[in-house]
This record gives sequence, C-alpha cells and structure tokens, in this order.
Amino acid sequence: MQNTAKLILDGKTYELPVITGSENEKAIDIRMLRSEAGFITMDPGFANTGSCQSSITYMDGEKGILRYRGIPVDQLAEKSTFKETAYLLIHGRLPTAKELRKFSVLLNDHSLVHEDMKAFYQNFPRASHPMGILSSMVNALRSFYPELQTVEEEVDITVTRLLAKIRTMAAMSYKISRGHTSVYPRPDLAYCENFLNMMFDTPVKPYRIREEVVRALEVFWILHADHEQNCSTSAVRVVGSARTNLYASISAGIAALWGPLHGGANQAVVEMLTHIHEADGDYRKAIERAKDRSDPFRLMGFGHRVYKTYDPRAVIMKKMCDRLLNGLNIQDPLLDIAKELEAAALKDAYFIDHNLYPNVDFYSGVVLRAIGIPTNMFTVMFAIGRLPGWIAHWKESMEDPQWRISRPRQVYTGPVKRDYIPVDDR
Ligand code: CMC
Repeated sequence: MQNTAKLILDGKTYELPVITGSENEKAIDIRMLRSEAGFITMDPGFANTGSCQSSITYMDGEKGILRYRGIPVDQLAEKSTFKETAYLLIHGRLPTAKELRKFSVLLNDHSLVHEDMKAFYQNFPRASHPMGILSSMVNALRSFYPELQTVEEEVDITVTRLLAKIRTMAAMSYKISRGHTSVYPRPDLAYCENFLNMMFDTPVKPYRIREEVVRALEVFWILHADHEQNCSTSAVRVVGSARTNLYASISAGIAALWGPLHGGANQAVVEMLTHIHEADGDYRKAIERAKDRSDPFRLMGFGHRVYKTYDPRAVIMKKMCDRLLNGLNIQDPLLDIAKELEAAALKDAYFIDHNLYPNVDFYSGVVLRAIGIPTNMFTVMFAIGRLPGWIAHWKESMEDPQWRISRPRQVYTGPVKRDYIPVDDR
C-alpha cells in the first residue's frame, strides 16, 4: 500500500502523505504544500477536496451507497424512526431502550418555544419565505437560551433543545402565515405525530393522525438526516470553525439549504411539474430545455455532485410515494408527469452521457403534497430532517483535535500594484 504520493514541481520532488479511510477512500494530504513548495491547489466548488475526516456518513456516488454510522439508509428507512436515527447520527451509535426513553423525555421537555418569540413571528411580512423566517428564528434562539456551552451536558441540552424546538417553530411559522393560532406540542404524541398535529390541528377541526402519513414523514426525515459534506453541512462546519455557537452555525446551514440547487430543489420540482401540468402536460419540452446550453433551465430533481447513478434515497422515496398515495387513495397528476418525465430522461442520450439520475428531491415534493404540506414549506421539511446531520457535524468539528478555522486560499488575478490617482487627475 502506497503511503505517500510524489509531486514534482520545478524539478524538485515532494512526498505527500496519503490518508486512507475505513472504506478505503484515499486522499493526498497537501497541508504542507504551500509552506514547503510555495504552491496551493485549485478546486472551485471543492469537488475534489476533502475538508475533514469524519465518521458520521459514508456515501459512494458510483455505487449508490449511503450509510449513517455504518448502517445502510434503506435499513433505517425500513426499521428505524427519525428520533432514533437522530440519536444515532449525533451520538455515533443506536440508543438502548433506556437511552431512547430519556431522549424522548428531553425532546418533550424542551419542545415549547419561548412565548416572547411569537412577537417576532407575527411581525414578519406575510409574504416572507418560511426558510428565511426559520433561519432568523434559529439564530434568535441564542438570545433566548444563552447558556454557556462549555460543559458537555450544556452542549447536549442545546442540541436536544434545538431538535425539540425546530418542529414547533416550523409549525408556528405555518400557522401564523395562515393567520391561525399556533398549536402547542402534546406530551402524549411522538416526534412526527406532534409535528403533524401542530401543523394541521385547529380548534374547529381536530387533526386525525394517520399511521401511513406518520410513517411517510419518518422515512422522509430519515432519508434527509445526513449527507456528509454537502453545501449546507459545509456551511455549518465553516461557520462553526470560528467557534460560533450551534444556533448561529445551524442558521447558516438553513440559509445554504434554501438555494434551489440544494434543498430548495424539492419546491422547485413541484413548481416545475405544476408548470408542465398547467401548460399542456408535455414533459418533453422540459427535457429539451434542460439540454439546451443557451437556456439556464435545468431539470429540477435531477443530477447530483456525488451520485453518478440513481440516488439511493430517490429509490426509497419513489416507492414510499407510491405506497402513500395508494394508502390515502390520492390521484396526483404531478406523480404521473414525474414518472413519465423520469422514464423519458433516463432514455435520453444527454442524461445518460451526463450521468443525470433523479435525486432525493424528485419525488419528495409529491410525498409532501400528499401529506398536506404547502409548497413553500417543503424546504423547511428538508431542514428539520437535516438538523441531526448538521448537529453531528458541528459537534464532530468541535471535538476534532485537528480543528483549524476554515480559511481557504485564492489565486489573485486582479491588477498588479498601481498608484492611487487623485480624483481631479482621473
Ligand atoms: N438538468 C440539466 N443538465 C444538468 C443538470 C440538470 N438537472 N444537472 C447537471 N447538468 C449538466 C450541466 O449542465 C453540466 O453539463 P456540461 O458538462 O455539458 O456543461 C453537467 O451536467 C455537470 O453539471 P454541474 O453543474 O457541473 O454539476 P454539479 O455537480 O456542480 O451540480 C447539481 C450538481 C445538483 C447542483 C446539479 O445537478 C443541478 O443543478 N441539479 C438540479 C437541482 C437539484 O435537483 N438539486 C438537488 C440536489 S439533491 C438534494 C441535495 O442534497 O441538495
């Protein structure tokens, strides 16, 4: 096994250490390159750059593998709950029955949101996007709960508080946007049930919690729970690297996730499918536009930086989507369009040559519509799901002995030194 890589620069050979991960992934360690050789590496978009060593999630984009702490995501989607998966990601192992009970009690104890926070909610303009509201409110949590995070227990409480409150805060933003009173969390309901009840229960129409909807939500959140160094998780790590508190770091992650190329894609997919449906239902036009280099349009819910095959989450999401719609007896024309669009794209030379397959967001919007979630809340649903992953990465980076503040380099391409010219002489 080769432990070093040789790099020849200006006739001089540099030996660079090779790092091997537990799944045999290899990286060349270039930490000393600039100080020894005067060179940096260039990798816009960081597609070929490892920013850390992590023991949280393993994915193989060529084989379509995704595992949390070693456990395949399909096993978790079949057998676990979101709460248990969150524990697994954050603590590194599955909880015992006693630990799970204690975790449930803590999540319940911390599920209320400070009443003073309601005033903030009420004063956002009505048209505000819920992701902007969520990002601001998560950041504001630091002012309402300013405990120090120096001892381990405090970090645990901060983490649990955030997991518990995020669903209450998300449901509150929806209720307030509709001009309804918010619904308090209930101690007799588990994590997903509680969220659904806070979203949809009203004093005049009690919400009936249906088992198939709860299971769909569990699976939806499990599939989104982590995805190693994606854009929003990297944002959480970069902000946290300045030793910024958990709430502010997560708020940055929510802002990154909002983008249509990242978590915002689930909303963009449904908008795209709705547009096709309301026009003439001809999905082929969308495919042609996506292939046209002069058109910035992309097929939303297709393609991935890492997966060069079918996203394993999309496989599970598609099956779950069929099951849910059948169970609820819903006929959604968007699902038919999505399936036809997918089949046509997978046969198209452009999509084959570019390795473009459906990603997790392609079917997730249809699932969320069936649950009754409004389109502008879709990315909030992704954010709640991704929270355990963000927390796990923030915690891991805080405990990393190799931690350094994130501070990339650049190659400067601006003007060389020139003198200032007084305004009258210009
Ligand atoms: N439709 C049409 N062409 C595409 C698409 C698409 N959805 N995605 C990539 N391409 C083409 C792109 O035009 C480029 O072509 P060429 O090499 O001929 O110029 C090539 O594929 C590579 O694209 P890229 O932008 O360099 O790839 P990337 O790895 O930087 O971007 C991506 C990955 C997910 C941002 C991109 O595939 C995309 O914009 N997809 C649509 C948005 C989407 O569904 N995002 C959700 C991602 S999964 C959820 C999450 O974890 O965020």
